[in-house]
Amino acid sequence: PEFISVANLATALGVKLELFISQLGELGFEEIAKDSIMTGETAALVAQEYGFEPTVDAGEDEDLRPRPPPEDPSSVPLRPPVVTIMGHVDHGKTTLLDFLRKSSIAAGEHGGITQHIGAFSVQMSSGKQITFLDTPGHAAFLSMRQRGANVTDIVILVVAADDSVKPQTIEAIKHARSAKVPMIVAINKIDKDQANVERVKSDLAANGVEIEDYGGDVQVVCVSGKTGQGMDDLEDNILLLSEMLDIRAEPDGMAEGWVLESSIKPIGRVATVLVKRGTLRPGDFIVAGRVFAKVRSLRNEAGVEVEEAPPGTAVEILGWKEPPEAGDMVLQAPTEDKAKSAVHYRIEQKEREEAMEQITEMERLKRERE
Ligand code: GTP
Ligand code: MG
Repeated sequence: PEFISVANLATALGVKLELFISQLGELGFEEIAKDSIMTGETAALVAQEYGFEPTVDAGEDEDLRPRPPPEDPSSVPLRPPVVTIMGHVDHGKTTLLDFLRKSSIAAGEHGGITQHIGAFSVQMSSGKQITFLDTPGHAAFLSMRQRGANVTDIVILVVAADDSVKPQTIEAIKHARSAKVPMIVAINKIDKDQANVERVKSDLAANGVEIEDYGGDVQVVCVSGKTGQGMDDLEDNILLLSEMLDIRAEPDGMAEGWVLESSIKPIGRVATVLVKRGTLRPGDFIVAGRVFAKVRSLRNEAGVEVEEAPPGTAVEILGWKEPPEAGDMVLQAPTEDKAKSAVHYRIEQKEREEAMEQITEMERLKRERE
C-alpha cells in the first residue's frame, strides 16, 4: 500500500501503539495520533529505524509508460513532420490549411471560428508527406493551443499583413519558444490593399522573433490563402526545415501518441489521435489517461477507413469505452489485460491522490483552528 495508518504501522512493526506514538514524537513527528496517515515512503523510513528493510510497492509495473528513446536514433526511419498553424483570430489559419487540403473548411465553419483541433496529412508534389494541425483562434481554447505546441515539430505563425502582431500572435510566439519548437512565419493576406509586410516584420522583431531579414534564422514567407500566392514557397520551407530537423520515429513497437480531440458521433465515441511512435492498427489495445480502447477502426481526415496509422499521422479512432480527454497521452499495451490493469492502476492512483489532498486540506484546517 502507498498509505498506512500509524496504528497499522505499529502492528506491522510489532510495537505497542502508545510507545510507537511517543517514539514517533522523538523522531520528530508532530501531532501523531493512531489514525494519522503516512505515505509509504515515510513509513519505510520509520520501519528502517526499527531495523526493517522495507520495500515500497509503488505499483510501477502496473502502469504503462512510454518506451525509452532509441539507442541509435539515426538508424530509425524518417517520419512526416507535424506542423501546427498558430496565430491571432481571423488571421487566416484555416484558410491557409484549407488551401493546402483544397477543401472548404473555412467556408463551412459555424461563425468562422475553428471548433476543434483539426488534423490532416497532405502529400506534397515531391511525394513527401506533412501532417498539419489547426488550432482554434478563440482565447477559450488556450490550453488546447498549448498542447498543440507540445505535440508539434514545427509551428507556422500566421500573421495577417493588414493587422500585424496581435495578442494571440504574441501568445503563439511564447508557446513556440517555451516548447522549443522552431517557427516559420507566414505573412498572410498580402493580396489586400492594406497589406504592410514591413510593419509585420518590424513588429515581429520587436517581439523577439529573430527573422532572417533582420539577421536571424526564422524564415518569413509572404502568402495569400485567397489567391494561393507564395503557397509553394511555404511548402518548400516546411520541407526544408523538417529535413534540417531530421525527424525520425520507429514504425514498430508499442505505439505512442496524443489525443487531439474527442467527441461522440452517431457511430460511437471517437478520438483523433496523433501517432508519434509505432503504428496503430485495428485490434490494438490502447490507453489514454484513465480510459481504455480496443481499436475498432481507424479513419483518416477524409473519413476513409485505413488499415494502419504510422508515426507522424493523425487518425480518428473508434472503440473507446469512455471518451478520452484531449491532450492525454496515448500508449499501446501488448495485451488487453495489460491495458485494463493500467487503467485500473491509474483510477486507483487518482483516488489515492484525492485522498492525499483531503488529508492535506484537513491538516491545514486543523492548523488554522489552532
Ligand atoms: P479563427 O479560426 O477564427 O482564429 O480564424 P482563422 O485564423 O482560421 O481565419 P480564417 O481562415 O477563418 O480567415 C478569416 C477571414 O480572413 C476569412 O473571412 C477569410 O476569407 C479571410 N482571409 C483568410 N486569408 C486571406 C487572404 O489571404 N486574403 C484575404 N483577402 N482574405 C483572407
Ligand atoms: Mg480557423
